[in-house]
Amino acid sequence: MSCCFAHPQTIHRLDDLVQPPMNSEKKKEIDGLTDGVSDSTKRAAGLSPQSQGLPLSDRFPLKEIPALEGSVAWEAPSNIALIKYWGKYGQQMPANPSISFSLKTCLSQTKVHFKPQAGGGVRFSLSGQQNLGFQTRIENFLNSVELHYPWLREYALDIASTNSFPHSSGIASSASGFAALALCVEQIDQHLRLTAEEGSAAHHPESSAHLADARFFNRASHLARLGSGSACRSVYGGWVQWGMHPATPESRNEYAIAHQSAIHPVFTDYRDTILLIHKGVKQTGSTAGHKLMEGNPYADARYRQANERIPRLLSILASGDLTEFGLLVESEALTLHALMMASDPSFMLMMPNTLAAIREIQAFRKQNGVPVHYTLDAGANLHLLYPAQHETEVMSLINNSLMHYCENQAYICDSVGTGPRPINPFV
Ligand code: DP6
Repeated sequence: MSCCFAHPQTIHRLDDLVQPPMNSEKKKEIDGLTDGVSDSTKRAAGLSPQSQGLPLSDRFPLKEIPALEGSVAWEAPSNIALIKYWGKYGQQMPANPSISFSLKTCLSQTKVHFKPQAGGGVRFSLSGQQNLGFQTRIENFLNSVELHYPWLREYALDIASTNSFPHSSGIASSASGFAALALCVEQIDQHLRLTAEEGSAAHHPESSAHLADARFFNRASHLARLGSGSACRSVYGGWVQWGMHPATPESRNEYAIAHQSAIHPVFTDYRDTILLIHKGVKQTGSTAGHKLMEGNPYADARYRQANERIPRLLSILASGDLTEFGLLVESEALTLHALMMASDPSFMLMMPNTLAAIREIQAFRKQNGVPVHYTLDAGANLHLLYPAQHETEVMSLINNSLMHYCENQAYICDSVGTGPRPINPFV
């Protein structure tokens, strides 16, 4: 089967894979999004005329589950957030919108072999080794979405994943891993639905067109979010926003969208060199960190601040103002870690070498006028952000002054990437 994949685009998609009971205010809000939209427009957007934006109503129902065996495989990138997602509610809903870019070289490759098996079943291996810890997390995740992927109860999945970055590098593989897995699950879902509806999907003239549909990526983003919040941003390339904000009317809390226009050329191949300052297991993981935002006395102010910063970053991305960019992203990084320190119990993920390297970066910038800035994830590693044209100067800064702050002098050179890609679909 030959497949053609279009660049993911933004499309209004109003469903939710897992549906918490909807209160009437929320329902009004969602219904309101399709008020006044003509039936033909709804059809073009993949919504049935009756749907009124109700969850999952744009999927044709899977009346019978066909028995097929095959494999799908996807590669998906990790991403780095500039406006951070920190705090969530309900079913993996973000407490504030975030903006990230997808990376080019930090990737996960995931292959899923599916075959009929009553009751379902999951086997997960990482780099060729069965990994029971991740297997349980993936099983729980897949169980939680069975309502919308009913075939999961009747299929055994053998999931094999590898990461391009070293296993214990301190770089979380959950974003790229869940994004790659969600793309595989969506592709199997499309295949089964088309087969159920039309007979052999392998010969269905529209099977590749369905996969090329922007909704395919919106749904995969939606599904990935339920595995790990930041993973929903990894199903697209370039600059990505997750979380509703009036500055981007098409943005949603349920899934991320790609910002394809209004990005200044300097930001289309921006560099991110990751200094691996500490590769060990973190004292507090992201999921526990998000939870601690619930009692954080600064939470409301933080969510307001993040919302104010979305239009500010969007306008910087359009103008290419690197000074403003640096001020904003460094403040975001330090705010994230300040929130951790202000949690109860408090925790600190930066290491002495993180701070020492930050000082060197600041001094270098002052002395040389090179626009190199840093951001931090929920960990001690530093991401050095700079325009491609300054690569030589920044590499000499790393080699002369920063490398010795890294464990085993290790760092990873990365940059803005083009997003996920299918690998040998249906091999
Ligand atoms: C600091 O997406 O890892 O990297 O939704 O619980 O899986 P879960 O958390 P996760 O949190 C990422 C937090 C962050 C900021 C960001 O990526 O926006």
